[in-house]
Amino acid sequence: MYSNQEIAELQKLTRKLAEGNYTEKAFEIVENLRNVLRFHEYRYYILNDPLISDPEYDQLYKLLEKIEKAHPELVTVDSPTQRVGSSLNPSFRTVAHLVPMLSLENSYNADDLIDWDRKAKEVARKDELEYCVEPKFDGASISLIYENDYLVRGATRGNGMEGDDITTNIKQIRSIPLTASFSTYGIQQIEIRGEIMMSKKAFKQYNEQLAEQNIPPLANPRNAASGSLRMKDPKEVGRRKLEAFLYNVSYYTRTNETVSRENEVLLHTHSGILQMLWNVGFRSPVNEMKVMKGINRVIDYCKDFEEKRNDLAYEIDGMVIKVNDLDLQDKMGMTTHHPRWAIAYKFKARQATSKLRNVEFQVGRTGSITPVAKIDPVFISGVTVGSISLFNEDVIKEKDLRIGDTVLVERAGDVIPYIVKSLAEVRDGDEKEIVFPKKCPVCKSELYKEEGEAAWRCINIECPAQVVERMIHFASKDAMDIRSFGEANVRKFYELGLLKDIPGIYTLDFTAIGNMAGFGKKSIENLQSAIEESKNQPLNRLIFALGIRYVGETTAKVLANSINHLFDLKEFSEEKLQTLEDIGVKVAKSVHTFFQNEQNLKMLQQLQELGVEMNNKKNDIVAKGELNGQTFLFTGTLNKLKRSEAEEKVEQLGGKILGSVSSKLNYLVVGEDAGSKLEKAKKIHTVKIISEDDFLSLVDKHTKYKI
Ligand code: IVH
Repeated sequence: MYSNQEIAELQKLTRKLAEGNYTEKAFEIVENLRNVLRFHEYRYYILNDPLISDPEYDQLYKLLEKIEKAHPELVTVDSPTQRVGSSLNPSFRTVAHLVPMLSLENSYNADDLIDWDRKAKEVARKDELEYCVEPKFDGASISLIYENDYLVRGATRGNGMEGDDITTNIKQIRSIPLTASFSTYGIQQIEIRGEIMMSKKAFKQYNEQLAEQNIPPLANPRNAASGSLRMKDPKEVGRRKLEAFLYNVSYYTRTNETVSRENEVLLHTHSGILQMLWNVGFRSPVNEMKVMKGINRVIDYCKDFEEKRNDLAYEIDGMVIKVNDLDLQDKMGMTTHHPRWAIAYKFKARQATSKLRNVEFQVGRTGSITPVAKIDPVFISGVTVGSISLFNEDVIKEKDLRIGDTVLVERAGDVIPYIVKSLAEVRDGDEKEIVFPKKCPVCKSELYKEEGEAAWRCINIECPAQVVERMIHFASKDAMDIRSFGEANVRKFYELGLLKDIPGIYTLDFTAIGNMAGFGKKSIENLQSAIEESKNQPLNRLIFALGIRYVGETTAKVLANSINHLFDLKEFSEEKLQTLEDIGVKVAKSVHTFFQNEQNLKMLQQLQELGVEMNNKKNDIVAKGELNGQTFLFTGTLNKLKRSEAEEKVEQLGGKILGSVSSKLNYLVVGEDAGSKLEKAKKIHTVKIISEDDFLSLVDKHTKYKI
């Protein structure tokens, strides 16, 4: 562990070095800095418990980069800077695995496991076996080779015998150490197996980014992880936030060095191997694994985990049960397909088959035409699925879908359902081709497709479908959040001629609405006040609500943060827009076009006259410094606020939300059933632990000063 003072001292020395004051101790100093960085990477990527903030880490990292650039002779192959290969991967070389990568036998219920246990005991000639039970990670499998403590190769599973050499890409994954002290276990060369994963959170964020660019989302984190490993640009791999879990050692050779008894012992059991991997810096499932005797305990543990499945940060599709004694594993051996000493217990399927009955074509608010499959409703992981987006024409072609096909549908956790494939084997010849329309299904104008785009588009901005979709989007929860003004009401008012455009929301004729069936005094009052309140939504919500192409919630925040008033965007050139964080050519062009369009400006003018707030209130508050620089984290279930609302309040007052408990945290807000975060926070004396009510009064206190 390094104290702040030590880090400061180190910074001073390294800065001198970076400025060219070469000293005898140069290598030692740089190596110290590298160790500091490695230590913080370990806290962040393996323990999930950072001790310093991202900017502090970046500062140290940049310092190291600067020194290494000035003194290339001081660079080592395992320096944290060496993860970022600058060259592109031309293509991946095929490499042979040291030991074939077999798959596992599958089981689906308690009876299967009881059967397997009986056979395993016969083969092992034992009355009882000790098992190690751990999650079955649902990602992309990889194999890593370390020699003399250095990572020398990373490969995909491929066909099990040979895979692609993806070493450069593997080095981008921060939870894979570039060096690991296997030598302390007397190991010279070692082949390790594991899974590359994208957490559910990273996957969601990634898909949101794709959606902002009108690119169909990826189906599940597994596809996202395996696709990422094959990226041609290693830097892009680095941006994908991949994680690695290592769970098996397939092969190792030994050195002549003597090894402590404590270390040697670990090499004889599977659970010991997982511990050894953890000890040398890998993320192995030591916290999730359990060693136990008797198949009934195994069954219980598998079921417990299945219940927790949705709460885990990453996807698992089952559990793996392994004989713990490695000598016994060797004796039990393998069949041609799988080891006899292990079995996978697969969780209940999140897939089902159904019939594709029809495809409808919906017009989105930007005019893009989305094909939507209508299937016989099926029940998958807790919900009934009847409609599934097919995103664009290419998806229909790639999957060769036809009306009348039997289709395989998947719905993983909170991920939107999708069609995996059609089952061509069971076609009876009556299936019909899906014909993509040439004209807009609503306004009948001709459809266009831009070069390089997958979506067909209706370019008539007066198209009633687009007008309605724009209003629905404007009022939606993540935009202006006008409660009681959902999709059904927007459609109804539009059809009745009570509403024709976005400004019309603020001039609704409530007397006319009051005369309609289903609208009592109370519901009119609710609607009226929800519309009134929406006028004061923060600027980023207004920008998102405008439905500018490619401008999702994240981009809207970036834009709002760079202005004081919405109309400031009129003065932004495409070049200026591109200087903002994460705004590229396409987004800049779209924003610029929107704010140069007379019709759009007229609409914004009307909204302003109707009292919609267009000033950046956040800047005012932050300038007053109410919660500026204060960090917050929420844990447990909140009763009065949604988590997203609470986080928004913090951000509005200039505070920051942290991802985990660390010494950087100022406030932990504790809801019901708070768990490990609370326990951890209690150990750090500087963290203030407050209730939801305390939080609300804190926010209230600060908001009173608001202009
Ligand atoms: S052990 C010789 N343990 O599941 C067997 N595999 O269907 C070595 N997997 O190819 C595999 N989590 O990609 C093992 N905890 C775990 C696993 C796991 C996921 C994958 C692995 C393997 C497949 C087997």
